[in-house]
Amino acid sequence: MKKIAVLVSGNGSNLQALIDANLSGQIVGVLSNKANAFALERAAQANIATCVIEHRNYPTREAFDQAMHQQLCKWNVDLVILAGFMRILSTDFVMQWEGKMLNIHPSLLPAYKGMHTHQRVLQTGDRWHGCTVHFVTPQLDAGQAIAQGVVEVLPHDTQDTLAQRVHLLEHRIYPMVTEWICTEKLTYTNADYVSLNGKKLTQPFQVCSI
Ligand code: GRF
Repeated sequence: MKKIAVLVSGNGSNLQALIDANLSGQIVGVLSNKANAFALERAAQANIATCVIEHRNYPTREAFDQAMHQQLCKWNVDLVILAGFMRILSTDFVMQWEGKMLNIHPSLLPAYKGMHTHQRVLQTGDRWHGCTVHFVTPQLDAGQAIAQGVVEVLPHDTQDTLAQRVHLLEHRIYPMVTEWICTEKLTYTNADYVSLNGKKLTQPFQVCSI
C-alpha cells in the first residue's frame, strides 16, 4: 500500500476530499507550514499524524525544505501531495521527489500559471476555465499535466462563483489521479514518459463539470 503525505497551508478542502475518497493508499501524515491551518484539524479528525514546520523558523528556503524532507522520510512516504501548500520549493527538494510529487493548480495549464487565476480568466473573457493535476518540477506549474477539470465560464460569474465550481472539480480529479498512482494505473518513468493504463500520456485526461 502506498504511503502518502499531504502538504497544506490553509483550509484543506482538497485534503478532505482525499480523506473521504478511501484511497487504496494510506495518508500517513499531513505537514503544514502554518500552525493555524484548518487542514490540521481535518487531519486530526481523521486520526492522521500531523506535523508543523514553520518556514519562518528557518534561515533559508533550502533549510526549510530539508526539514520537510526529513519528516517525509521519517513517515517513509511514496507520494507527496501538495494541496494548497503556499511555498515555492527549492530545486533540490523537488528533484528528490521527482515523479512522486503532485500539485493541483486552479487553471487549465499551461494557461495562467501563478496566482489570481480566476480573476485573470474573467479579465481575459475566456470561455473555459478549470484545474490541473500535474507532476511537480522545479519550474513553477510546469510539470506534466495528468488530468484537468473543465468548467464553462458563465456570463454572470464572479471570482467567487467561478472558484467554487473549480473547487468542486478539484475535489473530483485530485482523488481520482491519486488513486491511479496508488493502483499503478498511472506510472512515471521520466519527465518525458508518463503512462496511463499502459499508454504514454500525451495530453491530460479531461473531466467536465455538468
Ligand atoms: C486550491 O484552489 C488549489 O487549486 C490551490 O490551493 C487551493 C487549496 O484549497 N493549489 P484547499 O486548501 O484544498 O481548500
